[in-house]
Amino acid sequence: MIALGSDHAGFQLKQEIKKYLDEKHIEYKDYGTYDENSCDYPDYASKTCEAVLSGECKLGILCCGTGIGMSIAANKIKGIRAACCSDYFSAKYTRAHNDANILCLGGRVVGAGLACELVDVFINTPFSNEEKHVRRISKIASLESK
Ligand code: RB5
Repeated sequence: MIALGSDHAGFQLKQEIKKYLDEKHIEYKDYGTYDENSCDYPDYASKTCEAVLSGECKLGILCCGTGIGMSIAANKIKGIRAACCSDYFSAKYTRAHNDANILCLGGRVVGAGLACELVDVFINTPFSNEEKHVRRISKIASLESK
């Protein structure tokens, strides 16, 4: 199960991602926003990240205008490792090396075609589980209390 969230500026891209996930028969839950009325992206980052932290969803995807506001907000939440990506290599290795659990995309940055490729590689790449990456992620976790 994939958790989806966006603000107004990421709404259309989220709709495209939903279409793509439907085609691939991948289940998702949409935590809003549900229209293009102006709203505050931290509210939707919070709802979507909670769904991942609770275990209800395995991974999350957040869309705003740049993807950056969503990633800043999401990374404030303990246990969230959010990566804002607009290239294939980053979307792949943020899963393999950082065990990222949230992908952030910019609806004003990437087109729907690229975004769906990024979603695909993100959700299909496992964490490498290599000792050095496990160690580094646990060091990131220890920064959460600073
Ligand atoms: C909304 O206009 C825009 O600021 C927001 O979607 C996002 O890009 C912030 O990082």
